[in-house]
Amino acid sequence: MLSRLSPLLFALTAGLALAANQPGINYDEAKVRPYTLPDPLKLADGSPVRDAAVWRARRRAELLELFAREVYGRTPGGRPAAMHWEVTSIDRAALGGKAVRKEITVWFTAKKDGPRMHLLVYQPPGAAGAHQPWPAFLGLNYYGNNSVNADPGLALSTRWMRTNAELKIVNSRATEGTRGAHASRWEVETVVARGYATASIYYGDLCEDRPEGLKSDVATLFGTPPTEQRRGEEWGAIGIWAWGLSRALDVLAADPEIDAKRVAVHGHSRLGKTALWAAAQDERFALAISNDSGAGGAALSMRDYGETVERLNTSFPHWFAKNFRAYNARESALPVDQHELLALIAPRPLHVASAEDDKWADPRGEFLAVKAAEPVYALFGKKGLGRAEMPAVNQPALGDALAYHIRTGPHDIKPYDWAQYLDFADRAMR
Ligand code: GCU
Repeated sequence: MLSRLSPLLFALTAGLALAANQPGINYDEAKVRPYTLPDPLKLADGSPVRDAAVWRARRRAELLELFAREVYGRTPGGRPAAMHWEVTSIDRAALGGKAVRKEITVWFTAKKDGPRMHLLVYQPPGAAGAHQPWPAFLGLNYYGNNSVNADPGLALSTRWMRTNAELKIVNSRATEGTRGAHASRWEVETVVARGYATASIYYGDLCEDRPEGLKSDVATLFGTPPTEQRRGEEWGAIGIWAWGLSRALDVLAADPEIDAKRVAVHGHSRLGKTALWAAAQDERFALAISNDSGAGGAALSMRDYGETVERLNTSFPHWFAKNFRAYNARESALPVDQHELLALIAPRPLHVASAEDDKWADPRGEFLAVKAAEPVYALFGKKGLGRAEMPAVNQPALGDALAYHIRTGPHDIKPYDWAQYLDFADRAMR
């Protein structure tokens, strides 16, 4: 089945096979060099942050500034004044009557041929009533909105697409193979049956996932130069994708059937990095989920295990700010580490998930980042994970505002992951 990417093929598409043989990549816990994480509760002037008010008024801004300048690049603007949208279709009996499906085109300028994105929303069936408005999950997808479900009502994306042998994508265009290809990663029917809406955007609508991507789409709205010509602190693809998530939230917030105060942003892998950066910047997101986001996402950079900053910047020169390259093989010089990205989400609920076979993403480094974010959650009276040690596989630790799990299996999103996310969202958003 196309929706069941074999672990090997998946590893190939994710670049893992390549990485496994790379010199300089450490997979030996005993060889992790000692490191000292920057203290999220110490202001730039050296004074301590003792309460939530000082965190909010000063430290949060300092950390956001450091992540923008040194890691992801600055987000150059918010919602464009001329942004507008149209609901192009509503099917109140989609998925055999199990869901309402909405398709929305969002134009970022006044023009209909300028940069735009297509937002797909499924929500539980039923007219306005006791349950509405619906809480929602929002995330970017890799292969077009039609990849999240085999729903025949969805058109194939016409945009540039990454090569994928299994999905028969060879000419950078969607194929029939993309239909429902990631249905198992979205679990639309399950999510809707639990009383949530689920919304998705093709990430390639916002920025093509290649160095040339910065020459078109959202990048042109802000005059972003090509990847190598950017100034050190200008944004890259991750910044642009995160911006798109905030624009989708703008649109969802205008829909009376969606509860904009209960929108969880989620993402897998590079899109997990993106979801975290979106949630860090945009406090309207009520909950954040990082599925196997790894290096540049939930995993600590200073912990030398799995993917490194240098690998990120070399394989994907368009993802981060050029300034981030200054830390290639110099992670200890970073003024921030990823636990502080997680802390920027406080006190909102955050769920970080790893997969046992996904060593490239450093599961332990992801767990330790959550632990190191706890002192900031504590400022808000949140207990955190409620445990000191990393949980065993398939033993989720769902705390009051922080959750972490590691499941067996590969780098992917499995029904098991969704089951944890839904349980945590029930607890944290309802
Ligand atoms: C590569 C990359 C990771 C990324 C992953 C993905 O493996 O090195 O940083 O998370 O692709 O997005 O699938």
